[in-house]
Amino acid sequence: SSVTVHAPATIANVGCGFDVLGLALTAPYDIVRLRRTDQPGLTIRHLDDYNLPTDPYRNVAGAALLALLREVPEPIGFEVEITKGIRPGSGIGSSAASAAGAVVAANALLGSRFTNHQLVDLAMYGEAVASGVRHADNIAPAIFGGFTLVRAVLPTLDVVPLPPPPLWVAVVHPQFEVKTQEARAVLPAAVPLPLAVRQWANVGGLVAGFLTHDNALISRALEDYIVEPARASLLPGLGDARLRALAAGALGGGISGSGPSIFMLNQDEATAHAAAEAMGSVYQKMGIAFHLHVGPI
Ligand code: HSE
Repeated sequence: SSVTVHAPATIANVGCGFDVLGLALTAPYDIVRLRRTDQPGLTIRHLDDYNLPTDPYRNVAGAALLALLREVPEPIGFEVEITKGIRPGSGIGSSAASAAGAVVAANALLGSRFTNHQLVDLAMYGEAVASGVRHADNIAPAIFGGFTLVRAVLPTLDVVPLPPPPLWVAVVHPQFEVKTQEARAVLPAAVPLPLAVRQWANVGGLVAGFLTHDNALISRALEDYIVEPARASLLPGLGDARLRALAAGALGGGISGSGPSIFMLNQDEATAHAAAEAMGSVYQKMGIAFHLHVGPI
């Protein structure tokens, strides 16, 4: 028996919510197909051209499935086929999608014995392979869907799934590389209290805005005072892209995860397309190739 899962791209941080907020997109997505075998172990095949590792210990889906198999008493294995719809390194949760899709598919083949919280915990082993950090802000929305708050990772994972706002997302993915590890190395080790106060006020405001569909509040509360300023120098075009997207009617946005993609939230489809085109025009002028994604949350 086999199971096929569509695992969505996600936007981590969502402006002010570094390492805690995440949004699932409707597209692009990875397609992960699993077949259960009576032979213990994993075989992984990639049906795409990204040359990703297929050694289970170095593959994000493999690492997550190895963690899952350690929790399964029966001597079983999986044959895994992955078709990446999300470009690796784009900053919209490419590694999270493959890891999340793999454990969700495995769980379906095992009679749904794991909870969503347990699946997030297992899929984080894939994130550790990809970036060295077991962060859950892409995995949680990929598994729960919609909008999630990771209230805690330790000592116990505590994901709060929230109703997603009826907004449209515009994403520009400029073709340069920003490694998550490097984008974390530039972050301040400590934050002055007044800045921290402004930041958690925005996180609260953003969650409230999403829940009450208050777009003006969302627009005011998206701003990240701590992480984005530290990372801005790694992302040429960020300031211009934001200004142009705002001029096109976007509510606001920022770096998607650790970049290089930039996201903007929009009240409707037409504005999202306009914002995406506006951001693309910045990279066109800079001579940097880019991809655009537009879709509802
Ligand atoms: N929250 C993480 C970061 C996401 O911003 O470093 C990385 O994709």
